[in-house]
Amino acid sequence: MNILILGSGGREHTFAYKIAASPICNNLFIAPGNAGTGVLGKNVPIAVTDFEKIKKLVLEEEISMVVVGPEDPLVQGISDFFKADENLKDVIVIGPSQEGAQLEGSKEYAKKFMMKHHIPTAAYQSFTPETVENGKKFLETLSPPYVLKADGLAAGKGVLILQELEEAKTELDNMLTNQKFGKASSKVVIEEFLDGIELSVFVLTDGKNYITLPTAKDYKRIGEGDTGLNTGGMGAISPVPFASEAFLHKIEKTIVKPTVNGLKDDNINYKGFIFIGLIKVGDEPKVIEYNVRMGDPETEAVLPRIKTDLVAMFKHVGNETLNEIEIEIDDRAAATIMTVSGGYPEAYVKGEVISGIDEINESIVFHAGTKIEEGVVKTNGGRVIAITSLDKDFRKALDKSYRNIEKLHFDKIYYRKDLGFDL
Ligand code: AMP
Ligand code: GLY
Repeated sequence: MNILILGSGGREHTFAYKIAASPICNNLFIAPGNAGTGVLGKNVPIAVTDFEKIKKLVLEEEISMVVVGPEDPLVQGISDFFKADENLKDVIVIGPSQEGAQLEGSKEYAKKFMMKHHIPTAAYQSFTPETVENGKKFLETLSPPYVLKADGLAAGKGVLILQELEEAKTELDNMLTNQKFGKASSKVVIEEFLDGIELSVFVLTDGKNYITLPTAKDYKRIGEGDTGLNTGGMGAISPVPFASEAFLHKIEKTIVKPTVNGLKDDNINYKGFIFIGLIKVGDEPKVIEYNVRMGDPETEAVLPRIKTDLVAMFKHVGNETLNEIEIEIDDRAAATIMTVSGGYPEAYVKGEVISGIDEINESIVFHAGTKIEEGVVKTNGGRVIAITSLDKDFRKALDKSYRNIEKLHFDKIYYRKDLGFDL
Protein backbone atom coordinates (compact mmCIF):
# COMPACT_ATOMS: atom_id res chain seq x y z
CA MET A 1 0.00 0.00 0.00
CA ASN A 2 1.01 3.63 -0.48
CA ILE A 3 1.41 5.55 2.75
CA LEU A 4 1.65 9.23 3.67
CA ILE A 5 3.23 10.53 6.88
CA LEU A 6 2.37 14.09 7.92
CA GLY A 7 5.05 16.07 9.76
CA SER A 8 8.71 17.00 9.58
CA GLY A 9 10.39 16.13 12.88
CA GLY A 10 12.37 13.34 14.47
CA ARG A 11 9.10 11.59 15.27
CA GLU A 12 8.16 11.51 11.60
CA HIS A 13 11.62 10.30 10.53
CA THR A 14 11.20 7.46 13.02
CA PHE A 15 7.78 6.59 11.59
CA ALA A 16 9.34 6.65 8.12
CA TYR A 17 12.20 4.41 9.29
CA LYS A 18 9.74 1.80 10.56
CA ILE A 19 7.24 2.12 7.74
CA ALA A 20 9.83 2.00 4.95
CA ALA A 21 11.06 -1.29 6.44
CA SER A 22 7.61 -2.87 6.21
CA PRO A 23 6.96 -5.28 3.34
CA ILE A 24 3.41 -3.93 3.23
CA CYS A 25 4.58 -0.44 2.31
CA ASN A 26 4.89 0.21 -1.38
CA ASN A 27 5.44 3.95 -1.93
CA LEU A 28 6.08 6.21 1.02
CA PHE A 29 5.40 9.96 1.03
CA ILE A 30 6.19 12.46 3.76
CA ALA A 31 4.68 15.95 3.89
CA PRO A 32 6.67 18.07 4.33
CA GLY A 33 9.44 15.82 5.76
CA ASN A 34 13.12 16.58 6.32
CA ALA A 35 16.51 15.53 4.94
CA GLY A 36 16.23 12.17 6.70
CA THR A 37 12.75 11.24 5.50
CA GLY A 38 13.71 12.20 1.94
CA VAL A 39 16.08 9.22 1.84
CA LEU A 40 13.33 6.78 2.86
CA GLY A 41 10.47 8.12 0.76
CA LYS A 42 9.38 11.11 -1.27
CA ASN A 43 9.12 14.43 0.53
CA VAL A 44 6.22 16.56 -0.69
CA PRO A 45 6.19 20.28 0.20
CA ILE A 46 2.67 20.44 1.66
CA ALA A 47 1.80 21.90 5.05
CA VAL A 48 0.29 19.42 7.53
CA THR A 49 -2.87 21.53 7.84
CA ASP A 50 -3.47 22.09 4.11
CA PHE A 51 -6.24 19.49 3.85
CA GLU A 52 -7.14 20.24 0.22
CA LYS A 53 -3.59 19.74 -1.00
CA ILE A 54 -3.28 16.60 1.13
CA LYS A 55 -6.48 15.29 -0.48
CA LYS A 56 -5.11 15.94 -3.97
CA LEU A 57 -1.88 14.10 -3.13
CA VAL A 58 -3.73 11.15 -1.60
CA LEU A 59 -5.93 10.75 -4.67
CA GLU A 60 -3.14 11.25 -7.22
CA GLU A 61 -0.78 8.82 -5.53
CA GLU A 62 -3.45 6.30 -4.52
CA ILE A 63 -2.47 6.56 -0.87
CA SER A 64 -4.50 4.31 1.42
CA MET A 65 -3.00 5.15 4.82
CA VAL A 66 -2.19 8.50 6.40
CA VAL A 67 -0.15 8.62 9.60
CA VAL A 68 -0.56 11.97 11.34
CA GLY A 69 2.51 13.02 13.33
CA PRO A 70 1.68 16.34 15.06
CA GLU A 71 -1.46 17.46 16.88
CA ASP A 72 -2.42 20.50 14.79
CA PRO A 73 -4.07 18.67 11.87
CA LEU A 74 -5.89 16.42 14.34
CA VAL A 75 -7.24 19.31 16.38
CA GLN A 76 -8.27 20.92 13.08
CA GLY A 77 -10.20 17.77 12.14
CA ILE A 78 -8.20 15.97 9.46
CA SER A 79 -9.66 12.62 10.42
CA ASP A 80 -13.25 13.94 10.06
CA PHE A 81 -12.27 15.60 6.77
CA PHE A 82 -11.30 12.19 5.37
CA LYS A 83 -14.42 10.48 6.79
CA ALA A 84 -16.73 13.07 5.25
CA ASP A 85 -15.28 12.79 1.75
CA GLU A 86 -16.70 10.09 -0.53
CA ASN A 87 -13.29 9.55 -2.18
CA LEU A 88 -11.25 9.55 1.03
CA LYS A 89 -13.49 7.78 3.52
CA ASP A 90 -11.78 4.39 3.10
CA VAL A 91 -8.29 5.75 3.69
CA ILE A 92 -6.96 4.62 7.07
CA VAL A 93 -6.09 7.71 9.10
CA ILE A 94 -3.92 7.11 12.16
CA GLY A 95 -5.12 9.91 14.41
CA PRO A 96 -8.38 10.61 16.25
CA SER A 97 -11.42 12.63 15.24
CA GLN A 98 -11.59 16.33 16.09
CA GLU A 99 -13.67 15.49 19.15
CA GLY A 100 -11.07 12.98 20.35
CA ALA A 101 -8.27 15.45 19.67
CA GLN A 102 -9.85 17.77 22.24
CA LEU A 103 -8.15 15.58 24.84
CA GLU A 104 -5.04 17.52 23.84
CA GLY A 105 -6.65 20.62 22.33
CA SER A 106 -8.43 21.64 25.52
CA LYS A 107 -7.10 21.08 29.02
CA GLU A 108 -10.59 21.63 30.41
CA TYR A 109 -12.08 19.04 28.08
CA ALA A 110 -9.42 16.55 29.19
CA LYS A 111 -10.11 17.29 32.87
CA LYS A 112 -13.86 16.84 32.42
CA PHE A 113 -13.24 13.56 30.60
CA MET A 114 -11.04 12.30 33.44
CA MET A 115 -13.53 13.34 36.10
CA LYS A 116 -16.40 11.70 34.25
CA HIS A 117 -14.51 8.42 33.87
CA HIS A 118 -12.90 8.44 37.33
CA ILE A 119 -9.36 8.63 35.99
CA PRO A 120 -6.90 9.82 38.66
CA THR A 121 -5.62 13.35 38.05
CA ALA A 122 -4.96 16.57 39.97
CA ALA A 123 -7.98 18.41 41.43
CA TYR A 124 -8.79 21.53 39.37
CA GLN A 125 -11.12 24.40 38.53
CA SER A 126 -11.30 26.40 35.33
CA PHE A 127 -11.79 30.12 34.82
CA THR A 128 -12.57 32.63 32.06
CA PRO A 129 -11.98 36.41 31.80
CA GLU A 130 -15.42 36.87 33.43
CA THR A 131 -14.48 34.78 36.45
CA VAL A 132 -10.88 35.93 36.92
CA GLU A 133 -11.61 37.25 40.43
CA ASN A 134 -13.00 33.86 41.45
CA GLY A 135 -9.81 32.37 40.07
CA LYS A 136 -7.75 34.56 42.39
CA LYS A 137 -9.91 33.55 45.34
CA PHE A 138 -9.45 29.90 44.37
CA LEU A 139 -5.67 30.41 44.32
CA GLU A 140 -5.89 31.70 47.90
CA THR A 141 -7.35 28.36 48.98
CA LEU A 142 -4.39 26.42 47.53
CA SER A 143 -0.88 26.03 48.83
CA PRO A 144 2.15 26.67 46.60
CA PRO A 145 3.39 25.86 44.05
CA TYR A 146 0.51 27.04 41.88
CA VAL A 147 -0.16 25.37 38.53
CA LEU A 148 -1.82 27.49 35.81
CA LYS A 149 -2.61 25.96 32.43
CA ALA A 150 -3.79 27.70 29.29
CA ASP A 151 -6.77 25.68 28.06
CA GLY A 152 -5.78 25.57 24.39
CA LEU A 153 -2.72 24.59 22.37
CA ALA A 154 0.23 26.81 23.24
CA ALA A 155 3.14 24.94 21.65
CA GLY A 156 4.07 23.32 24.95
CA LYS A 157 4.49 26.67 26.69
CA GLY A 158 1.05 27.10 28.22
CA VAL A 159 1.79 25.72 31.70
CA LEU A 160 3.12 27.97 34.46
CA ILE A 161 4.25 26.69 37.85
CA LEU A 162 4.65 29.50 40.36
CA GLN A 163 5.89 29.65 43.93
CA GLU A 164 4.33 32.96 45.04
CA LEU A 165 0.62 33.62 45.43
CA GLU A 166 0.90 37.21 44.16
CA GLU A 167 2.81 36.11 41.10
CA ALA A 168 0.21 33.42 40.43
CA LYS A 169 -2.56 36.03 40.59
CA THR A 170 -0.67 38.34 38.23
CA GLU A 171 -0.04 35.55 35.76
CA LEU A 172 -3.70 34.52 35.92
CA ASP A 173 -4.55 38.09 34.92
CA ASN A 174 -1.93 37.99 32.18
CA MET A 175 -3.33 34.80 30.78
CA LEU A 176 -7.04 35.59 30.99
CA THR A 177 -7.21 39.35 30.62
CA ASN A 178 -4.05 40.14 28.65
CA GLN A 179 -4.16 36.98 26.52
CA LYS A 180 -0.61 35.98 27.34
CA PHE A 181 -1.02 32.86 25.19
CA GLY A 182 -3.53 34.42 22.78
CA LYS A 183 -6.80 32.57 22.37
CA ALA A 184 -5.27 29.49 24.06
CA SER A 185 -5.50 31.27 27.42
CA SER A 186 -9.03 32.61 27.11
CA LYS A 187 -9.73 29.83 29.57
CA VAL A 188 -7.32 28.74 32.32
CA VAL A 189 -7.23 25.56 34.35
CA ILE A 190 -5.82 25.97 37.85
CA GLU A 191 -4.83 22.68 39.37
CA GLU A 192 -3.38 21.04 42.41
CA PHE A 193 0.40 20.63 42.26
CA LEU A 194 1.47 17.00 42.10
CA ASP A 195 4.85 16.16 43.53
CA GLY A 196 6.52 13.14 41.99
CA ILE A 197 8.47 11.73 39.09
CA GLU A 198 7.17 11.85 35.53
CA LEU A 199 6.84 9.18 32.90
CA SER A 200 4.76 8.60 29.81
CA VAL A 201 2.83 5.66 28.50
CA PHE A 202 1.79 5.26 24.90
CA VAL A 203 -1.30 3.47 23.73
CA LEU A 204 -2.41 2.58 20.22
CA THR A 205 -6.17 2.12 19.97
CA ASP A 206 -8.67 1.27 17.25
CA GLY A 207 -11.46 2.78 19.34
CA LYS A 208 -12.39 -0.53 20.98
CA ASN A 209 -9.20 -2.45 21.57
CA TYR A 210 -5.78 -1.19 22.47
CA ILE A 211 -2.13 -2.11 22.68
CA THR A 212 0.12 -0.58 25.30
CA LEU A 213 3.48 0.41 23.87
CA PRO A 214 6.73 0.75 25.84
CA THR A 215 7.00 3.52 28.44
CA ALA A 216 9.37 6.46 28.06
CA LYS A 217 10.66 9.42 29.97
CA ASP A 218 11.70 12.62 28.27
CA TYR A 219 13.88 15.53 29.33
CA LYS A 220 12.07 18.77 28.60
CA ARG A 221 14.41 21.44 29.97
CA ILE A 222 17.25 22.91 27.95
CA GLY A 223 19.74 22.90 30.81
CA GLU A 224 21.51 20.13 32.69
CA GLY A 225 19.92 19.07 35.96
CA ASP A 226 16.50 19.92 34.43
CA THR A 227 17.05 23.66 34.53
CA GLY A 228 16.26 26.54 32.20
CA LEU A 229 13.57 26.91 29.57
CA ASN A 230 11.24 24.19 28.38
CA THR A 231 11.97 22.71 24.97
CA GLY A 232 10.17 20.23 22.75
CA GLY A 233 12.34 17.58 24.39
CA MET A 234 16.10 17.06 24.70
CA GLY A 235 16.15 13.30 24.90
CA ALA A 236 14.29 10.21 26.04
CA ILE A 237 14.79 6.84 27.61
CA SER A 238 12.68 3.71 27.17
CA PRO A 239 11.64 1.77 29.16
CA VAL A 240 11.38 3.85 32.32
CA PRO A 241 13.49 1.97 34.88
CA PHE A 242 11.33 2.84 37.89
CA ALA A 243 8.10 1.58 36.30
CA SER A 244 7.77 -1.87 37.84
CA GLU A 245 5.38 -4.54 36.59
CA ALA A 246 3.04 -3.81 39.50
CA PHE A 247 3.08 -0.08 38.80
CA LEU A 248 2.43 -0.63 35.09
CA HIS A 249 -0.44 -2.91 36.00
CA LYS A 250 -1.91 -0.13 38.12
CA ILE A 251 -1.59 2.33 35.23
CA GLU A 252 -3.33 -0.10 32.93
CA LYS A 253 -6.19 -0.73 35.35
CA THR A 254 -6.82 2.79 36.64
CA ILE A 255 -5.86 4.87 33.59
CA VAL A 256 -5.44 3.10 30.25
CA LYS A 257 -8.56 0.90 30.38
CA PRO A 258 -10.86 3.65 31.70
CA THR A 259 -9.51 6.02 29.04
CA VAL A 260 -10.19 3.69 26.12
CA ASN A 261 -13.54 2.61 27.57
CA GLY A 262 -14.42 6.25 28.21
CA LEU A 263 -13.78 7.14 24.57
CA LYS A 264 -15.96 4.23 23.50
CA ASP A 265 -18.76 5.06 25.96
CA ASP A 266 -18.73 8.70 24.86
CA ASN A 267 -18.96 7.61 21.19
CA ILE A 268 -15.73 9.36 20.35
CA ASN A 269 -14.19 8.10 17.15
CA TYR A 270 -10.56 7.44 18.10
CA LYS A 271 -8.13 5.51 15.95
CA GLY A 272 -4.63 6.45 16.84
CA PHE A 273 -2.13 7.05 19.59
CA ILE A 274 -2.87 8.22 23.10
CA PHE A 275 0.20 9.63 24.82
CA ILE A 276 -0.51 9.74 28.53
CA GLY A 277 1.74 12.02 30.57
CA LEU A 278 1.83 10.68 34.12
CA ILE A 279 3.28 11.59 37.44
CA LYS A 280 4.06 8.97 40.06
CA VAL A 281 2.94 10.38 43.38
CA GLY A 282 4.12 7.94 46.03
CA ASP A 283 2.98 4.71 44.42
CA GLU A 284 -0.01 6.19 42.61
CA PRO A 285 -0.04 7.16 38.94
CA LYS A 286 -1.94 10.35 38.07
CA VAL A 287 -2.54 11.86 34.65
CA ILE A 288 -0.93 15.23 33.94
CA GLU A 289 -1.98 15.44 30.35
CA TYR A 290 -3.18 13.58 27.31
CA ASN A 291 -1.65 14.06 23.90
CA VAL A 292 -3.39 12.61 20.88
CA ARG A 293 -0.23 11.68 19.00
CA MET A 294 3.14 10.18 19.76
CA GLY A 295 5.71 12.26 21.63
CA ASP A 296 8.84 13.72 20.15
CA PRO A 297 11.57 12.61 21.07
CA GLU A 298 9.81 9.72 22.86
CA THR A 299 8.97 8.16 19.49
CA GLU A 300 12.66 7.99 18.64
CA ALA A 301 13.19 5.83 21.75
CA VAL A 302 9.94 3.82 21.71
CA LEU A 303 9.49 2.76 18.07
CA PRO A 304 12.96 1.26 17.55
CA ARG A 305 12.07 -1.15 20.38
CA ILE A 306 8.94 -2.40 18.63
CA LYS A 307 9.77 -5.43 16.51
CA THR A 308 6.27 -5.90 15.12
CA ASP A 309 5.54 -4.48 11.68
CA LEU A 310 4.14 -1.00 12.31
CA VAL A 311 2.09 -0.95 9.11
CA ALA A 312 0.47 -4.25 10.08
CA MET A 313 -0.40 -2.71 13.45
CA PHE A 314 -1.92 0.33 11.72
CA LYS A 315 -3.99 -1.91 9.42
CA HIS A 316 -5.43 -3.55 12.52
CA VAL A 317 -6.28 -0.08 13.82
CA GLY A 318 -8.12 0.67 10.58
CA ASN A 319 -10.02 -2.63 10.70
CA GLU A 320 -10.72 -2.39 14.44
CA THR A 321 -8.98 -5.72 15.00
CA LEU A 322 -6.15 -4.73 17.32
CA ASN A 323 -7.35 -7.50 19.65
CA GLU A 324 -6.02 -10.01 17.11
CA ILE A 325 -2.37 -9.12 17.55
CA GLU A 326 0.28 -9.12 20.21
CA ILE A 327 3.29 -6.95 19.75
CA GLU A 328 6.87 -7.99 20.19
CA ILE A 329 9.16 -5.65 22.07
CA ASP A 330 12.95 -5.61 22.02
CA ASP A 331 14.21 -6.34 25.55
CA ARG A 332 16.98 -3.82 25.17
CA ALA A 333 16.68 -0.27 26.44
CA ALA A 334 16.77 2.72 24.12
CA ALA A 335 18.34 6.11 24.79
CA THR A 336 17.76 9.08 22.51
CA ILE A 337 19.76 12.30 22.68
CA MET A 338 18.63 15.38 20.78
CA THR A 339 21.11 17.83 19.30
CA VAL A 340 19.83 21.39 19.00
CA SER A 341 20.91 24.66 17.41
CA GLY A 342 22.79 27.05 19.73
CA GLY A 343 20.31 29.48 21.29
CA TYR A 344 17.31 27.13 21.11
CA PRO A 345 14.59 27.31 22.49
CA GLU A 346 15.08 31.03 21.94
CA ALA A 347 16.42 32.59 18.71
CA TYR A 348 18.85 30.43 16.73
CA VAL A 349 20.43 30.34 13.28
CA LYS A 350 19.37 27.93 10.54
CA GLY A 351 21.33 26.73 7.52
CA GLU A 352 24.47 25.45 9.27
CA VAL A 353 26.24 22.59 7.46
CA ILE A 354 25.96 19.26 9.32
CA SER A 355 28.85 16.80 9.04
CA GLY A 356 29.68 13.41 10.47
CA ILE A 357 26.30 11.76 10.01
CA ASP A 358 27.76 8.90 7.98
CA GLU A 359 30.40 8.18 10.61
CA ILE A 360 27.79 7.24 13.20
CA ASN A 361 27.86 3.47 13.15
CA GLU A 362 26.54 2.18 16.48
CA SER A 363 23.42 4.35 16.74
CA ILE A 364 20.41 5.26 14.63
CA VAL A 365 20.28 8.81 13.31
CA PHE A 366 16.88 10.49 13.19
CA HIS A 367 16.67 13.86 11.50
CA ALA A 368 14.46 16.56 13.02
CA GLY A 369 15.10 20.13 11.80
CA THR A 370 17.24 19.38 8.75
CA LYS A 371 17.05 20.10 5.03
CA ILE A 372 19.14 19.18 2.04
CA GLU A 373 20.57 21.87 -0.25
CA GLU A 374 22.61 20.90 -3.30
CA GLY A 375 23.43 17.58 -1.70
CA VAL A 376 24.51 19.13 1.62
CA VAL A 377 22.57 18.46 4.83
CA LYS A 378 21.96 21.65 6.80
CA THR A 379 20.21 22.64 10.01
CA ASN A 380 16.64 23.83 9.54
CA GLY A 381 15.18 24.08 13.04
CA GLY A 382 15.82 24.23 16.77
CA ARG A 383 15.93 20.50 17.30
CA VAL A 384 18.26 19.17 14.61
CA ILE A 385 19.17 15.49 14.88
CA ALA A 386 18.38 12.78 17.42
CA ILE A 387 20.68 9.83 18.03
CA THR A 388 19.16 6.61 19.38
CA SER A 389 21.06 3.62 20.70
CA LEU A 390 19.85 0.27 21.97
CA ASP A 391 21.71 -1.69 24.60
CA LYS A 392 21.29 -3.96 27.61
CA ASP A 393 20.24 -1.16 29.95
CA PHE A 394 19.65 2.56 29.63
CA ARG A 395 23.11 3.51 30.96
CA LYS A 396 24.83 1.42 28.30
CA ALA A 397 22.47 2.78 25.65
CA LEU A 398 23.22 6.32 26.79
CA ASP A 399 26.98 5.68 26.72
CA LYS A 400 26.67 4.45 23.16
CA SER A 401 24.64 7.47 22.10
CA TYR A 402 27.11 9.86 23.74
CA ARG A 403 30.03 8.10 22.05
CA ASN A 404 28.41 8.44 18.65
CA ILE A 405 27.02 11.93 19.02
CA GLU A 406 30.59 13.23 19.25
CA LYS A 407 31.02 12.42 15.57
CA LEU A 408 28.29 14.86 14.63
CA HIS A 409 29.21 18.47 13.92
CA PHE A 410 27.54 21.76 13.10
CA ASP A 411 28.23 25.28 14.29
CA LYS A 412 26.98 25.83 17.89
CA ILE A 413 25.74 22.27 18.31
CA TYR A 414 24.32 21.70 21.81
CA TYR A 415 22.99 18.67 23.64
CA ARG A 416 22.51 17.75 27.26
CA LYS A 417 25.28 15.59 28.65
CA ASP A 418 23.42 14.51 31.79
CA LEU A 419 20.47 12.46 30.55
CA GLY A 420 19.51 9.80 33.07
CA PHE A 421 21.01 11.87 35.92
CA ASP A 422 17.77 11.50 37.90
CA LEU A 423 17.40 7.75 37.53
P1 AMP B 1 1.62 19.77 30.44
O1 AMP B 1 1.76 20.70 29.28
O2 AMP B 1 0.24 19.66 30.97
O3 AMP B 1 2.29 18.46 30.19
O4 AMP B 1 2.51 20.40 31.61
C1 AMP B 1 3.87 20.70 31.40
C2 AMP B 1 4.69 20.26 32.57
O5 AMP B 1 4.25 20.94 33.75
C3 AMP B 1 4.55 18.78 32.90
O6 AMP B 1 5.41 17.99 32.15
C4 AMP B 1 4.88 18.77 34.37
O7 AMP B 1 6.28 18.78 34.55
C5 AMP B 1 4.34 20.07 34.86
N1 AMP B 1 3.00 19.91 35.45
C6 AMP B 1 1.82 20.00 34.83
N2 AMP B 1 0.80 19.81 35.67
C7 AMP B 1 1.34 19.62 36.88
C8 AMP B 1 0.80 19.39 38.19
N3 AMP B 1 -0.51 19.34 38.41
N4 AMP B 1 1.67 19.21 39.20
C9 AMP B 1 3.00 19.28 39.00
N5 AMP B 1 3.56 19.50 37.80
C10 AMP B 1 2.75 19.67 36.75
N1 GLY C 1 8.15 15.39 24.23
C1 GLY C 1 6.91 15.91 24.58
C2 GLY C 1 5.91 15.96 23.51
O1 GLY C 1 6.05 15.43 22.44
O2 GLY C 1 4.87 16.58 23.74
